[in-house]
Amino acid sequence: MRTQIAAANWKMNLTLQEGEALLKGILSKIQEPKTHQRVVFAVPAPYLQAAANMIKGKKNIHISAQNIYNKKSGAYTGEISVDMLRSINIDYTIIGHSERREYFNESNTFLAEKINIALANDICPIFCCGEPLSVREANKQDAFVAKQLEESLFHLSADALKKVVIAYEPIWAIGTGKTATSRQAQEIQQYLRSLIAKKYDAKIADEISILYGGSVKAANAKELFSQPDIDGGLVGGASLVEDEFVSIISALK
Ligand code: PGA
Repeated sequence: MRTQIAAANWKMNLTLQEGEALLKGILSKIQEPKTHQRVVFAVPAPYLQAAANMIKGKKNIHISAQNIYNKKSGAYTGEISVDMLRSINIDYTIIGHSERREYFNESNTFLAEKINIALANDICPIFCCGEPLSVREANKQDAFVAKQLEESLFHLSADALKKVVIAYEPIWAIGTGKTATSRQAQEIQQYLRSLIAKKYDAKIADEISILYGGSVKAANAKELFSQPDIDGGLVGGASLVEDEFVSIISALK
């Protein structure tokens, strides 16, 4: 079975003390994820090391950055490099979240550079794609997400692409309480997989984990994750609530 992932995205929330209490609470309530499952916590950068220490020795549980820079090192005040992450044993990062694209003007080609540097340094990128409401209303979402994949991922070799996790996150569903229906999410995620099959081959398309994100919560996780092309979720708001995220983890296939 494809790897199934429950990924928490804390965004710019929680103090260190609140984050530690939340992580500790969740860890105390979950079993070791099965071999085909991963639980990932994308925590704010100042807490990466503390969070990494808390999961030390635990299998199939990872701490993730929320962003990286596209350069190895240098005069880039405030940015975070892959080497910094590696030095504290962080092996995941979100790349291209819609909030980065919107508020920090991150383009598809800039994100391609981040994907390259992450993969070259053995950091697993969770690459976000997804359309805004105006595009969905015009029924042009397929072409929109196809372009995102084309410009940020499809320069990769098949071996490199296999290491990427994709998260489909329609912008109109993020933090709005408005979830895509499981049918809408399944349809577009199947389409994303078909694009990969066309560009690469069916085997690779079948191996890649594609998460859904956008108002995933305990009440809808099971239904969403039961879809054949949805391999778990990238979860914002509900990942800040202990019991919500515990039950989202338990909804993984
Ligand atoms: P949400 O956020 O679950 O609060 O909608 C998801 C995300 O932005 O990754």
